[in-house]
Amino acid sequence: MDSKISKADLKLEKIASEKRIKDNDELKVSSDIFDKQTLETLYKLGKQPYLDLLNGEISTGKEANVLLGIKEDSSFVVVKIYRIATSDFKKMQYYIQGDPRFKIRTHNKRQLINAWVNKEFRNLNRAYEKNVSIPKPIVAMNNVLLLEFIGDEDGNPSQPVKNQKPEDPDDFLDKILFELNKFIHDAKLIHGDFSNFNILNHNQYPVIIDVSQSVVLDHPIAPELLDRDILNIHNEFNKLKVKISIDEIKEKINYDKIFK
Ligand SMILES: Nc1ncnc2c1ncn2[C@@H]1O[C@H](COP(=O)(O)OP(=O)(O)OP(=O)(O)O)[C@@H](O)[C@H]1O
Ligand SMILES: [Mg+2]
Repeated sequence: MDSKISKADLKLEKIASEKRIKDNDELKVSSDIFDKQTLETLYKLGKQPYLDLLNGEISTGKEANVLLGIKEDSSFVVVKIYRIATSDFKKMQYYIQGDPRFKIRTHNKRQLINAWVNKEFRNLNRAYEKNVSIPKPIVAMNNVLLLEFIGDEDGNPSQPVKNQKPEDPDDFLDKILFELNKFIHDAKLIHGDFSNFNILNHNQYPVIIDVSQSVVLDHPIAPELLDRDILNIHNEFNKLKVKISIDEIKEKINYDKIFK
């Protein structure tokens, strides 16, 4: 057995025994997300001020588990862990290959997942720097991403719009399009999975999340992804009784100026 890994494991056990990481049952996290590399990464993050303890799960997705972390100063942080076992490597490869920021040509799954997490970090950063309403990225290490927690003081996360309908859908969509406009024209990114699942309703203001698949404007699939994003948001808000056409949405995000 790799002695370095087993040493890190032991230290994590010590942390766990001190109740700094609650047991798996309590976390409702299947043990397969905590493989050795992930444990080692969490341990490394735990040695720095970024993260002190893990305190329950916010969401289990297809590829990632999102956990609530607590920092030394008692503030909350989101810990997004990509599971090696269930990641869609074909998709990752497809999106990364056309991205001029990533030169990697790899079939190594871990390298690909690390690049994917790094891509999400960089996309978040790029949008955050342009004042888009998006969680502030903190650090990316291997398959783990730490980001700002969006929620209340007690650690309750703000819910996706899908589960928490806006009080005023017309006004909420306006705010979404205002943010999307900055995301596209200032951060120069296309989201690629824009939907009510990936927009949080934080006190009736939208916060865009889940930007791992987002691409730069000169990525070959950017125009296609943008059209799909517009269609999604149009359909979802029409269901919420907002009378807006696709052309009106396009006008609000200055569609004609995007790929010039
Ligand atoms: N910064 C955050 N603050 C609060 N909650 C968050 C934050 N980021 C993510 N979440 C919660 O975790 C859920 C999943 O996050 P995200 O969309 O980033 O992962 P995912 O990659 O979509 O997972 P999957 O697509 O596999 O379901 C979100 O729907 C949201 O409820
Ligand atoms: Mg999502």
